[in-house]
Amino acid sequence: MSPKLLKILNENYQVVKNDGEDVIKGLSKNLKSLPPKYFYDDRGSELFEQISELPEYYPTRIETSILEQYADEIAQITGSSELVELGSGSSTKTRLLLDAYQKIDNSFTYIPTDVSGGILKTSVLDLQEKYPGFTIEGLLGTYQQTLAYLESTPTQSRTICFLGSSAGNFYPQEFDNFLTQITRSLQPENYLLLGIDLNKPKEILEAAYNDNHGITAAFNLNMLSHLNWRFQGNFDLNLFNHQAIYNQAETQIEMYLYCQDNVTFYLEILDLKVNFQPGESILTEISRKFDLGILPTKLEAKGLKVRKVWTDPKKWFGLILCQA
Ligand code: AVI
Repeated sequence: MSPKLLKILNENYQVVKNDGEDVIKGLSKNLKSLPPKYFYDDRGSELFEQISELPEYYPTRIETSILEQYADEIAQITGSSELVELGSGSSTKTRLLLDAYQKIDNSFTYIPTDVSGGILKTSVLDLQEKYPGFTIEGLLGTYQQTLAYLESTPTQSRTICFLGSSAGNFYPQEFDNFLTQITRSLQPENYLLLGIDLNKPKEILEAAYNDNHGITAAFNLNMLSHLNWRFQGNFDLNLFNHQAIYNQAETQIEMYLYCQDNVTFYLEILDLKVNFQPGESILTEISRKFDLGILPTKLEAKGLKVRKVWTDPKKWFGLILCQA
């Protein structure tokens, strides 16, 4: 692939001790946790694509239906000539936006960004074929690296989209820092399009994250395979069970891996021993469910003016368009 099509933001990236500081920190706590970015190696990205097609996992389906209805309006309002997508994965839903922008102007730049190189390369090549008039440049890196790059390459006509409710995977303080970084990556009048999952009954939420086909369980367990590969670890996946629980007080799904045994694992590259008691858990992800009565105020406080909000008839999912 030509370097023009895929820019690697972390060129100096190596599997060195420093790289796993967040793993050391999370696994050394009393209540163990890991950052959700470790879900997304190539296998994890593939499993997430499968999750998004599950009948129980409503967010992708509903967000797609909102985009089907309103993509043209979004393209009209923003009139942008550049769309950057954070955590683009396969860019499947985004094609609805790309089609809408194509109707306005065929010389358009789409910048998909992801931490997972495999899926990013495949989708960039695919999109190049489908939208030959567009400039398509993939950015491989974390949100922080991507936003730092965007800050250094300002344009007058940019929309950043962050779909799928990935914003819900941040803790409140992280979300706050993320929004600060977003505002730095936008020039005045640039746009942010944010997809957010809305709060709903516990039964619907828990079913969405404990699907009957065991795909979410495989996705959760795959994080340990990823750590084994990246840090030469020896986690035994057979000793862990997946469970997702809705925390009503925090209005968030919490995904756990429960260890069934008294056992110690070792991550060689990090020189880290991790002891488990039977029943002890690792929190691998939170997925916050938002309230449309509260979130817009938070965005406005960050200097992001809410221009329009779209939802589905059941109000299960929302798309918020903000302007810097
Ligand atoms: C990527 N993110 C928005 C998904 C979510 O719903 O929080 C990740 C996921 N975890 C389990 N299923 C899907």
